[in-house]
Amino acid sequence: MNNVVDHSSNLVQKALVSPVTPVTPVTPVTPVTPVTLITPAPPFSDTDPKFNDANSASKPIILECKNLDKEYIDANVRLKILSNLSLSVKLGEQVAIMGRSGSGKTTLLQMLGGLDSPSAGEVWINGQNIHALNEQQRCQLRNQSIGYIYQFHHLLPEFTALENAAMPLLIANEDLKKVKEKAEDILEQVGLKDRLKHKPGEMSGGERQRVAIARALINNPVCILADEPTGNLDDENADQVFEVLCQLNRRLQTSIILVTHDSDLAAKLDRTLILQGGQLQTSA
Ligand SMILES: Nc1ncnc2c1ncn2[C@@H]1O[C@H](COP(=O)(O)OP(=O)(O)OP(=O)(O)O)[C@@H](O)[C@H]1O
Ligand SMILES: [Mg+2]
Repeated sequence: MNNVVDHSSNLVQKALVSPVTPVTPVTPVTPVTPVTLITPAPPFSDTDPKFNDANSASKPIILECKNLDKEYIDANVRLKILSNLSLSVKLGEQVAIMGRSGSGKTTLLQMLGGLDSPSAGEVWINGQNIHALNEQQRCQLRNQSIGYIYQFHHLLPEFTALENAAMPLLIANEDLKKVKEKAEDILEQVGLKDRLKHKPGEMSGGERQRVAIARALINNPVCILADEPTGNLDDENADQVFEVLCQLNRRLQTSIILVTHDSDLAAKLDRTLILQGGQLQTSA
């Protein structure tokens, strides 16, 4: 097992220093029927008036779910978690989702990100019904359009910060020289220019989460799904990680759906929704 892991690690490392060496750190995704994507907007300055325009009616809807149901059946007991839930998120919009433990926040993000299937209803990302795609197309759409950040960073322990951040581009078989440049650039933007070669075990919790943010954003996704990304950090680190995430999001004009138990963080976003009784309600 270790041999396999070390071998992959070497391959990725070689790949990142030698653009001519072919690398297959993970199974590459074969190109499939082109997915219609909205070209990511170029970065713009924090003073750009578009910043304050996230709710403008002119902005396209990036992510939408309609009449979503999710139920689990365990030992003949039917557990309904999401019930006829609908949500629309516009380009660049920042949405917080709160709700008590067990209300279904993680379940909802997994449906929105195509990681699990709903019992009924549809999820549209960039004009594509993600659950109507085959597995390969769904992976491609996820890789190109969604950045997922978990409460626990889920970085690969045997890979460096640079390799972890670069992973979505390596999976997409992008040019290795560009991959390295992009990974260095995004890691610099999250303040980790001096940690490129550190492995997750050699970084603090906040630094690991910033690598996870870099990995989620490296592809210029249209939407970030963040499941309590600061829930495992102390207050100071949580604030720093949250600020980095929000600043990058605004700069890249990426939409975000952020699950949090922290009402102060939620209040900094465009709107807050509460998941209760399987449905989203506007926060009072
Ligand atoms: N695979 C599964 N099979 C059966 N029940 C499940 C499964 N996954 C989740 N659940 C149940 O669905 C409910 C919602 O879980 P979920 O993880 O979405 O809650 P959450 O709102 O994210 O909670 P927390 O704030 O604690 O993270 C829980 O009651 C959980 O036990
Ligand atoms: Mg959860």
